[in-house]
Order: sequence, then C-alpha cells, then structure tokens
Amino acid sequence: MRDAELSPDDLRTLCDMDEGVLSPRIYADEAIYRLELDRIFGRAWVLLCPEQQIPKPGDFFNTYVGADRVIVVRQKDGSIKGLLNQCRHRGNELARPDSGNTKMFTCSYHGWSYDLQGNLRNVPHEDIVFPNGFDKSAWGCGAMAQVESYKGLVFGTWDPTAPPLEDYLADAAWYLDIFLDRFEGGLELMGGVNKWVIKANWKIVAEQFVNDMLHPEQTHISAFLASVPPDADLSKMQLPVTGRQFTSPHGHGMGLWTDGPILDLTIGPVARRYFMEESYPAAVARVGRARADVQAAHMNLFPSCVVLFGFNHLRVIQAVGPQESEIWTWQFVPAAAPLEVKKTWAANVQRAFGAGGLFETDDSAVWAGIQRTLRGTMGRRLPFNVGMGDRTNQGPDADYPGRVTQRAYSEVAARGFYHRWLEMLTHDTWTDLDQAAKARHAEGARQ
Ligand code: FES
Ligand SMILES: [Fe+2]
Repeated sequence: MRDAELSPDDLRTLCDMDEGVLSPRIYADEAIYRLELDRIFGRAWVLLCPEQQIPKPGDFFNTYVGADRVIVVRQKDGSIKGLLNQCRHRGNELARPDSGNTKMFTCSYHGWSYDLQGNLRNVPHEDIVFPNGFDKSAWGCGAMAQVESYKGLVFGTWDPTAPPLEDYLADAAWYLDIFLDRFEGGLELMGGVNKWVIKANWKIVAEQFVNDMLHPEQTHISAFLASVPPDADLSKMQLPVTGRQFTSPHGHGMGLWTDGPILDLTIGPVARRYFMEESYPAAVARVGRARADVQAAHMNLFPSCVVLFGFNHLRVIQAVGPQESEIWTWQFVPAAAPLEVKKTWAANVQRAFGAGGLFETDDSAVWAGIQRTLRGTMGRRLPFNVGMGDRTNQGPDADYPGRVTQRAYSEVAARGFYHRWLEMLTHDTWTDLDQAAKARHAEGARQ
C-alpha cells in the first residue's frame, strides 16, 4: 500500500529530473524510506552475493534486501534460493551466522526446523503442542520469487512479475561484462565479505557510483598525492580527461576513464601492468578494444549494486535505514594471474577502498557530511541541483553502446538514476515502468 501522505504528485514535486532539481527530503524522511523498501527493494532485482560465496550444496550467506534479512542458500541440485530470515512461529531469526553450511535451519527459540528450500520440516513436541494436527506445509518461510545468476553474480527479487534478470540489466550488461568477462580464466574471490556502516542514506552512496567522475580531483586529492611515488614525474600524473558516462533507461549508470594515472596510484604498477599490458591482448580478444581500454570506472546497477572496474571490486549498499547504510564488499582478482599480482592487487584495493582505505574514508566523510546537513529543518528546505552535463540527446557512439556522453563529467547518469527511482515509486506495474523508460529514452528526449 502506498503511504497515504505521499501521493505520486507529492513525490514528483520532490524529484524533478527534467529540471535537475531534488528535494533533500528524499535522503532523510522515514516515510519516503518505507516507500522505497516496499516499491523499490520489494520489486527490483537486488545483488545477493557472488556465487563463489556459496559454492557447495548447503552453503548459505546471510544478507539484506532493503531492510529484510535474506538467507541465500545453495540447494542440493546446485540451484540457489533466497529465504526470508524469519521463523514463522514467533519471528526469530532463523540463521544468525554471517555464512555457513547446513542441512536445516533450526530456530534458536523453540526449535522449528526448515529445510534448504524453506519448507517447515519439524516442530518439537508437535503432537503435544498441536493435539488437533498441524499442516506444516502451510508454514514454510518466506522465499524470494525469483533468484537468478548473471555470470557468477546472484540477484533476487521478491516480485514474481519482475522481468527476467537479463532484461532488467538490459543495456548495462555490456558494461558489466567488462568486470565479469575481461580475464581469461575468470575472477577469483579473495576471502569473503567485508562490511562497514555509513551514516548516510543509500542513494547518496549509489549516486556517486552511478555517476560522479567529478569529485576525485577535489575529494581524493590528498589520497592521490599521498600515493604518488617519491621519484614520480608529477607532470605525467595529471588526472584523466578521456572518458564517458553511460546511462540506462533502467536507472543503471557508469562513469569510465580510458586514460590517466589512477591505476598506478591505486592498484599500483605491478597490478596495472598485468591489467593494461600482460592481460590486455587476451582482453581485447574477449571483450573488444573499447572495453579492454576501460581503466578506472564505476557503475551502479539500480538500485544498489556497485562495481569498481580496474579494481575488481564489488559491493552492495544495504539500505538498512533512512539515514544509515551498510557497505558490503567483495574483492576479486584474475584467477589466472600470478600470485604476486593477485596479492598486490587485492591489498592495494583494500588500501584504497577498504573500510579504512585512503579513498574510501574521503568518500565516507562526504557521504556522512551530506547526511549531517539534513538533520535540521532548514537543511531539508532548499532543493539540490542535479543539472550538470549536456542536456541534449546523447550517444550511442562508435565504441560504446546505449546512451553515453562524450565526457565523463556529467550528471546525466544521476538524473537517470533518480528518474528510475521516481518511476518505481509512482508506477504500479512493470509494463508501466517499461513504457516510462522507453519514453524517457526516446530519440531526442532530454536527459
Ligand atoms: S520463534 Fe522460531 S520456533 Fe519459536
Ligand atoms: Fe570517491
């Protein structure tokens, strides 16, 4: 049910992407957050985990979809299910560990047990507590309506009417493949998941990854300078200029650089050489030159799945509250790379983008700083500007399909993200959502 206080017309006054104007309320109001949980996280395809997190039957991983806890569990036949982590008796969490392997999920309160498919199998003292009989088949735990993998990443949706995952990823899949398909031998997960808390609304974080190529030269300048080797020629250390921004009608988006020193300053020269020299010819053969040329880049798959290209870094922004998020990250390395390359790549990404990473703490300070400005009354009144970048029709260009800008500096992808956000809050069916997206991306439409 839609919140009675927030009609579609109300919502449209908070988010006008034709004008590039946003109300600060969308990052702070509890009512808007509850609506997002229902209409976005209750319907969209959300990243659950990499398949490598749960390789064997019985392996499970405890995650969130919005604010709901979900157990992602590998079935005996190798398929994957997403179960609501909630006992149907009195609501206790069914699985408390972050991950593990099991044959059954047994509730720690009164011992109801569920199999890997979520069917209720055992109730202690059943014949005494239900003397008139009990239909256990009616009391299985909640399950996600659809769970699908795309090249090793597991996504789920609560909505049985949501389009297939490939249709949902749509034109973003070509870009996502730069991460998933670039290396001969594929990607290897280094360790498990890393998590931390950010005192900021999930959209503040997602927006940066869908869009923001402008902030590094301000926000990260001291991290860059601290990373310059002492003997480096600073004249060769100019930040990149050649790049693109991609925006999908489905709210996904990406900014990419094809030049500049960012990889040397983050993953370091050993990993950079493997990435842009040693593995480059095979990458060109696998994904083509335009995609192999992508160096530093970031993407957000709507609503909250983030990829950092060049860093082999995957994350999901867990929208656990209106003013608080958790960031969960997975680090990959090319499976066929020498051990030395793998180690230095993973360690340097942690140094840059781990919980205490040089670049991550820069970003976290900004995200939390934005949220602090929204505590008061005045800070929620004046609208924010999301108007940067060419507003006329863009791309495709010769190298990059879909709607792309010719420069990385733009807010086109942020507007695409918020357009989709508003559409999901105000449109009831996927057919309506589809039509809205098509109209927005029609030839000549202003972005
Ligand atoms: S709450 Fe789970 S068995 Fe009672
Ligand atoms: Fe950043």
